[in-house]
Amino acid sequence: MPSSAQRKRVLSGMRSTGKLHLGNYVGALDNWVHMQDEHECYFCVADWHALTTDYADTSRVKENSLEVLLDWLAAGLDPERSTLFIQSHVPEHAELHLLFSMITPLGWLERVPTYKEQQENITGKDLSTYGFLGYPVLMSSDILIYKADFVPVGEDQSAHVELTREIARRFNLFYCQRGRAVFPEPKTVLTPAPKLPGTDGRKMSKSYGNTILLTDPEPVVRRKLKTMMTDPARIRRSDPGNPDLCPVGDLHKIFSSPETLAKVDAGCRSAGIGCIECKGWAADALVSILNPMQERRKKYEENPRLAWDILEAGSARARKVARATMGEVREAMGMSLDYEAPESVQAAE
Ligand code: TRP
Ligand code: SF4
Repeated sequence: MPSSAQRKRVLSGMRSTGKLHLGNYVGALDNWVHMQDEHECYFCVADWHALTTDYADTSRVKENSLEVLLDWLAAGLDPERSTLFIQSHVPEHAELHLLFSMITPLGWLERVPTYKEQQENITGKDLSTYGFLGYPVLMSSDILIYKADFVPVGEDQSAHVELTREIARRFNLFYCQRGRAVFPEPKTVLTPAPKLPGTDGRKMSKSYGNTILLTDPEPVVRRKLKTMMTDPARIRRSDPGNPDLCPVGDLHKIFSSPETLAKVDAGCRSAGIGCIECKGWAADALVSILNPMQERRKKYEENPRLAWDILEAGSARARKVARATMGEVREAMGMSLDYEAPESVQAAE
């Protein structure tokens, strides 16, 4: 591991919306787990962000945060090496969000692609709220309060990181002398997200109800695979198929060994194997990555207090860093908490 002086700081987060699925794993978590080897990592359970769309019913907020943490620990995020914390326990994020909201032009927010998209796509909830518009400003505070160098996210979040860079620039321009910027401009690290189909062949997503959860036990994984969509051209067992046009083929490409992949490719194209057999192999591959996760999860499931303690300790650590940054922010804005007589008063004295 590089020495602490050379280590770059990483921050990322997830909205706490409950149990995670394989799409969250290949799209983010797997990458985060690897980043822990080289960088100083902060991972945020974004429970305030969950409220931006689910504000009316908060009965599951806490439970959802805990579920996310359990899945993180299961996937291999290591609280000894990384700071795992919960957004609402570091209230400094809210203070910075407020100050950023003063300098963020409305037009910047209205132009963020996810803003209009989500308002149109999410039906049954009124998303014309102040908080929802400010979603990316809150995310900017999450990132900048730790002065993160890198933000590993999926493509869908990159506009938010771009906005974060613009907010950092504007803050530095208004309040900092040249060369004494408070905020660095963080870089997006795009997670190379392979196409991960859900059981119906569309992108795996909670809102489509086509997910395989990190907590699904083996029989459930096998059952979900059995009914998974295949190459539509392969109707009878004797029809040859094309794994490049088959969602199960996509799963093999991500999770199976080169040997299995070769067997699938040859067998499918020559109708030498049946889809049931092929799906069985895909299930084997999934089970072999989910098993160790579910093993690691057990300890915390049996004793959720342990997991909650991790979040509390992580949040205390995060608060220290956040507080130090807020000290600099107040100083830069001329609003430090220390008493200093204004110049006019000094002159009179
Ligand atoms: N908006 C992110 C998502 O929906 C979650 C998130 C909140 C986040 N705060 C963050 C991601 C800070 C990166 C950095 O996935
Ligand atoms: Fe898909 Fe496998 Fe059937 Fe080919 S054999 S169509 S890859 S499930």
